[in-house]
Amino acid sequence: MTVTLGEIVARSRRRLTESGIADAAREARLLIGGLLEIDATAFITGEGRILSADDASRVDDAIRRRTDREPIFRILGRRPFLRLVLELSPETLEPRPDTELLVERLVPVARETVARQGRCRVLDLGTGTGAILLALADMVPGVSGIGTDIARGALETAARNADLNGVADRVTFLESDWFSRIDSRFDVIVSNPPYIAAPVIETLADEVRRFDPRRALDGGADGLDAYRSIAAGAREHLEKDGTLALEIGFDQRHSVSALMEAEGFLFEDALRDLGGNDRVLVFSAGPKR
Ligand SMILES: C[S@@+](CC[C@H](N)C(=O)[O-])C[C@H]1O[C@@H](n2cnc3c(N)ncnc32)[C@H](O)[C@@H]1O
Repeated sequence: MTVTLGEIVARSRRRLTESGIADAAREARLLIGGLLEIDATAFITGEGRILSADDASRVDDAIRRRTDREPIFRILGRRPFLRLVLELSPETLEPRPDTELLVERLVPVARETVARQGRCRVLDLGTGTGAILLALADMVPGVSGIGTDIARGALETAARNADLNGVADRVTFLESDWFSRIDSRFDVIVSNPPYIAAPVIETLADEVRRFDPRRALDGGADGLDAYRSIAAGAREHLEKDGTLALEIGFDQRHSVSALMEAEGFLFEDALRDLGGNDRVLVFSAGPKR
């Protein structure tokens, strides 16, 4: 039996609503648009278009996955991040809009560094899809650097994303437990590490708990394990006038600041996300100790 675009949009929206998805109309359009490469205008002008049996079954399968709580961009296999499109894989966190804030805060830092010394070397710890390093390299031509992760699958995805986004000549990806395989200094050290306290993970939405990799979420008993490792290693890998920038959980501003300040870093700045929560902390290297 044939189905038109308009009919499959209506059917998809209904199935999403029935399964309790809040913004079913938007999600149906995003999923169908992404799968069939249909833009907003084509949704309006192409309502009567008859879908091939293959396209219709791809849409139905995607909607079924969404009713099982798989996030839209995981189903599509890629998501936008600032000016990039990033592929996702089972070993990568899906990058969040909050992390775009962190990148945007670092763009002027990187530009000033390039203006001063011709280049800016960035270390992105726990790089996942490569989102932070790749976006900085994309937005600031003098940026080069290393992205690390302990998840080999994530590093493979990050390297593919570097190729896809045209910055592969300025970045490398390295399997490393935080600083363990890093032996040089950087102008910027940045990280969005796992920061959820382990007992809290079970309470997270299905979309996060079941589909983001545990290693990308689990910050240990109090959520601060990664920050402790970063605090311990950052000084010997940061240039003397360098910047350390961290994404944090909504209630971690004081605990993470205390960890960094205990290692001699100077607090510079805190940024809030769109929900008004503390989300990004920026430190400078501070005087040599
Ligand atoms: C919250 S995710 C962030 C991913 C990416 N930077 C982003 O912002 O979308 C944290 C990342 O840290 C990595 N990770 C966890 N433990 C690590 C460790 N000991 N050393 C290096 N990376 C680690 C995870 O595999 C994951 O990719």
